[in-house]
Amino acid sequence: MTSPPVPRPASAFDLATLAALFASAYEGYPLPVHMDEAILGMMVECYDESLADSVVLEVDGLPAALALLAVRPPHGWVGGMGVVAAHRRRGLGRVVMQALIERARARGLSELWLEVLEMNEAAHALYRSLGFRDVRAVDVWSLPAAEVATGLTLEAGAEPGGPLLEPEPWQRSAGTRARFAQRPPGVEHLRLSLEGLEGAITWRGAGEARALLDARGGGDAAWWARALAQALLVHEARTLRLLNVASGGVLAEAARLAGGTRDTGQFEMCLTLTTD
Ligand SMILES: CC(C)(COP(=O)(O)OP(=O)(O)OC[C@H]1O[C@@H](n2cnc3c(N)ncnc32)[C@H](O)[C@@H]1OP(=O)(O)O)[C@@H](O)C(=O)NCCC(=O)NCCS
Repeated sequence: MTSPPVPRPASAFDLATLAALFASAYEGYPLPVHMDEAILGMMVECYDESLADSVVLEVDGLPAALALLAVRPPHGWVGGMGVVAAHRRRGLGRVVMQALIERARARGLSELWLEVLEMNEAAHALYRSLGFRDVRAVDVWSLPAAEVATGLTLEAGAEPGGPLLEPEPWQRSAGTRARFAQRPPGVEHLRLSLEGLEGAITWRGAGEARALLDARGGGDAAWWARALAQALLVHEARTLRLLNVASGGVLAEAARLAGGTRDTGQFEMCLTLTTD
């Protein structure tokens, strides 16, 4: 690369152009990525991605790299980044991430978070070299419905309080849950009672597939395995997706005990932006 391209705010581009850029920047990604204007619009809205603070690099007048910054002060989150395949390994990934970090600093954020697939060595190396540190390993699981429901009582109600079972990643955090609640199919808060113990969950989805957003109270992993699998059966759903639950934590272990599938693993990473 002769001189690095000047970063432009993503808000200078329309959503269709950004969605097309996102799709081509994820070419060769270890998992299939489906992206279109509607999905990107959902991400911008539900994850609080700020297009004015997100960055596009152009090469020869065409979009070549993208990094999306989600903002919930004092934290930020990288909601996707990549470089169009023909332009990789020329420093654009580093430039676009440095520009994103600059924007996060300019917004006064204290921490910048992201997740990276465990097999995505290129991105993991890039993030480490920029100062991000691994915070924990997280898993994505699919948990199947039980064949029979025995003794579970379920009650729909208001959003539960009390401590969460484990820290939540951006895509399932309180800010995201509030946004999901405003969009079809909305979210459902359920109180689960089984074997004398009570737990509470929030999930999202309709039909056969649900996605867990939060979990509180309850018992050990074996209890959660029974409670979640039976909750699915009662709601005539077949699978529950557990996105970025702590590896080896209660929810991941519950999914394993329920006969679930570990779809992939990620590293959750954080860059501290404050200097004091
Ligand atoms: C990850 C990605 C953004 C890197 O972009 P890039 O423009 O090729 O990266 P750069 O040329 O700026 O390289 C920056 C650093 O990334 C790392 N890196 C990039 N490609 C790499 C590879 N193939 N293998 C190992 N490390 C690699 C290196 O640490 C490199 O630093 P170095 O050149 O000093 O060794 C690019 O491969 C990509 O778009 N992949 C698909 C989308 C994706 O995975 N996004 C991340 C989602 S979490």
